[in-house]
Amino acid sequence: VRDGAKKSLIGVIDDGTKTVRFVIYEAERSEELVSHQLDKTEVQPQEGWYEQDPMEIIHHIKVCAENAIEQLTELGYTKEDIVALGITNQRETTIAWDKFTGEPLHPAITWNDIRTDSTVDAILAKVPDRNKNYLKNISGLPISPYFSALKMRWLKDNIKTVRRASRDKRLLFGTVDSWIVWNLTGGPHGGLHITDVTNASRTLLMNLETLNWDPMLCRLFGIHRDSLPQIRSSAEIYGTVKDGSILDGITISGILGNQQAALVGQNCLQAGQAKNTYRTGCFLLYNTGTRRVQSTHGLLTTVAYKLGPDSPAVYALEGSIAVAGGAIKFLRDNLKLIKDVSQDTEHIAGQVFSTGDVYFVPALNGLYAPYWRKDARGIICGLTAFTTKNHIIRAALEAVCFQTRDILEAMNKDCGMPLSKLHVDGWMTSNDLLMQLQADLTGIPVLRSTSWDMSALGVGVAAGHAAGVWAVERWRRHATPSHTFLPTTTDDDRDARYTKWKMAVQRSLGWATT
Ligand code: G3P
Repeated sequence: VRDGAKKSLIGVIDDGTKTVRFVIYEAERSEELVSHQLDKTEVQPQEGWYEQDPMEIIHHIKVCAENAIEQLTELGYTKEDIVALGITNQRETTIAWDKFTGEPLHPAITWNDIRTDSTVDAILAKVPDRNKNYLKNISGLPISPYFSALKMRWLKDNIKTVRRASRDKRLLFGTVDSWIVWNLTGGPHGGLHITDVTNASRTLLMNLETLNWDPMLCRLFGIHRDSLPQIRSSAEIYGTVKDGSILDGITISGILGNQQAALVGQNCLQAGQAKNTYRTGCFLLYNTGTRRVQSTHGLLTTVAYKLGPDSPAVYALEGSIAVAGGAIKFLRDNLKLIKDVSQDTEHIAGQVFSTGDVYFVPALNGLYAPYWRKDARGIICGLTAFTTKNHIIRAALEAVCFQTRDILEAMNKDCGMPLSKLHVDGWMTSNDLLMQLQADLTGIPVLRSTSWDMSALGVGVAAGHAAGVWAVERWRRHATPSHTFLPTTTDDDRDARYTKWKMAVQRSLGWATT
C-alpha cells in the first residue's frame, strides 16, 4: 500500500452492452486502482433482434472480480478492504427468470432490439389517436421498442415458458441490475428482487411522480406487480453478497443506470449541468434538479439519481442516440472497413480533410431522440467516384456529432437556455478527431473527462456515499476535465453542414415502411 495507511475501497460492477468490467476505487483519493474487463457474446438471431446470455453476465462478473482482486493483492490490499459494491448497467435490457429455479426463461432482450415493433402497434391501438406520447406525462417516455415494458409484453405474448411461469406465479422480470443483485444475494435461495429508481424509470411502468409502479401502466401492458422488483433509491444498503463467489460478504450499496451514473461521475450534480456519454449509443443527460421538465421536442424525462431513501429524486432531460460507437463497430464487423475500433477510425478518418460531402445516418435500429421513428433505416448518401472508405469512416464520426447537435437543439428549445459547454466521457472520447469534430459541429467547447469510464466512477461514488466513505462533497473537488476542445469553424460553415445532415435524416425516415 502506497503510503502505508490502508484506505476504504469500493468495488464496481459495470455491465455495458458489449462488455462487463469490474473496477476497484480508493474512495478517499477518488482513484481507480485496478480493473478487469471481458467482452460479451452478442447474438443477433434475426434482423433487428439483439440478445445476450444472462448467465454469461454473471459468469463474467465473477471472472472480472477475481482478476481485479488478484491485482489488488499485488498492491498490498485484500478483498476485506472493499467496503461496498456498486452496480451500473446498460438500461432497459430485459430478463425474465424463474423465481424457484433461477433459470432465465429466455435470453436477455437488449435495449436496442426492435422485435417489439408489432407490440408497439398493439399498444398504440389502445391509446387515443395512437399517440406515441400519450404516456409521457406519467412515465416521461414515448411508446417505443426501446423500453422494457414492450419487451416484457413481447415475452409474455411469444414465449410459452414465460407465460407458464406467469400463470404459476414463478415469473420474475428485471432490468440487468435486478438480475445481478438477485443472483449475487442468493438467487433462488433468498435473492433480493430490487431495482433502483433510475433503472425503473426506463421501463415505461414507473410513475415519475410517485416513483412507484403505476397501476394504469401495468394494466395497459399486462404486467403483474408481483413479477416486478421493488423500487429502491440509488444509494442505500440493499444487502450483502451471498453467492459463494469472491465477492461474498460485501455490502451492495449503490445502483444506477449507466447514463445516470456517468452524470454523477461527471459531477453534474447541479441543475443546468449536462454530460454526453459516447459508447455503443450516445446519451446526453441534462440535470433539471427536483423539477420534472416535460419535453415537447422529443427528449425523455428520466430520474437522474436519488442518493438515499430520504433524499429527493433529481430528474434529467435525456437525449438518447441509439447508434454512436455502434456505427464504428458496424463498419468493422459488417463492412470490414476497419480492424480496430479505437485506433483505426482516428487514423483513417484523419487522412482526409472532410467527408467529401458524404453523410451517414446510422439508423440501424430506427432513430431515437428527437425523432423516435422505428421505421427509419441507415443511409449513406453523397457518394461520388471520388469517395473512399476514409470519407465514409469520417462521415460515421460526424454522424455521432450531428446526432448530438440534434439533441442540443431540442434541449435548447425545451429549456430555453443553450448549453455553453459539453462534458463528455465514454470510450469513444479517446478519439481526438471525434472530439474536435464535436466542438466544430456544435460550436461549443467540449470538455473531456479524466477517465473514460465515468459510469463506474459515478456508481462508486453512490455506493461509497451510502457506506459513509465517499462524501459527494469531497467528490466534487476531484472531478476536473482533462482536456478541452474548442470550436474552430464558423457558424455559417457548421450550419450549412447541419442543414445537409437534416436532409439526409429526412431520407432515412420511413424507409422500412415505404
Ligand atoms: O439505454 C441504453 C444504455 O444504457 C446503453 O449504454 O454504454 O452500454 O451503450 P452502453
